[in-house]
Amino acid sequence: MQQKTRIAPSILSADFAALGDEVRAVSAAGADYIHIDVMDGHFVPNLTIGPAVVAALRPHSELPFDVHLMISPVDPYIPAFVSAGANIITVHAEAGAHLHRTIQLIKDQGARAGLALNPGTTISVVEPLLEDLDLVLVMSVNPGFGGQSFIPGQLEKIRQLRGLIDATGRLTDLQVDGGINLANAGAAVAAGADVLVAGTATFTGGVAHYAANIEALRATSA
Ligand code: DX5
Ligand code: ZN
Repeated sequence: MQQKTRIAPSILSADFAALGDEVRAVSAAGADYIHIDVMDGHFVPNLTIGPAVVAALRPHSELPFDVHLMISPVDPYIPAFVSAGANIITVHAEAGAHLHRTIQLIKDQGARAGLALNPGTTISVVEPLLEDLDLVLVMSVNPGFGGQSFIPGQLEKIRQLRGLIDATGRLTDLQVDGGINLANAGAAVAAGADVLVAGTATFTGGVAHYAANIEALRATSA
């Protein structure tokens, strides 16, 4: 069942010199999750943050930390991210050979488990794991950087996943990440997404705009 639209600001677009303040600000501005993009310079061509930063941010918000791991190998780092305060851990279908084991590891550690699909990855990889997943993430850009353009072809993938998730009867989040803005958020929700990751669209304009930016994204589904 499609749940109410939730907004997950990606702190990749925040001021990295003031991350604690930024997490506090978006939490107060009405965010639902804090989306934390972890990149390793290997699985994706960029480097961002590790478990120490997640742990340092943890006292700054009571919202779920939605940690998007764009790293390979991924299994060795899962316990450290859960210890640091991750509530949801999303891994990429392309990041390891034994996805079922990875998903079980996340759950054994006590976090909710998500699976991300690159734009070039088919939904067939999700199907055998759907009963085990708490979240499915459709990448609407190729992962690695904020500020890229939304790939409209991914809407069809969202539509198909909405059907598969509904058939399970489970409340699995269907998240979309990359290039989300006021021009396409409504289409993503209409296709079936119920969590919108938004970096640029949240942080544009500075702290005085965060609440309005988040509310405007949410309102596209009204
Ligand atoms: C891309 C990341 C996204 C991205 C979102 O690899 O997973 O979370 O930073 O940023 P925008 O909303 O600017 O595309
Ligand atoms: Zn992300």
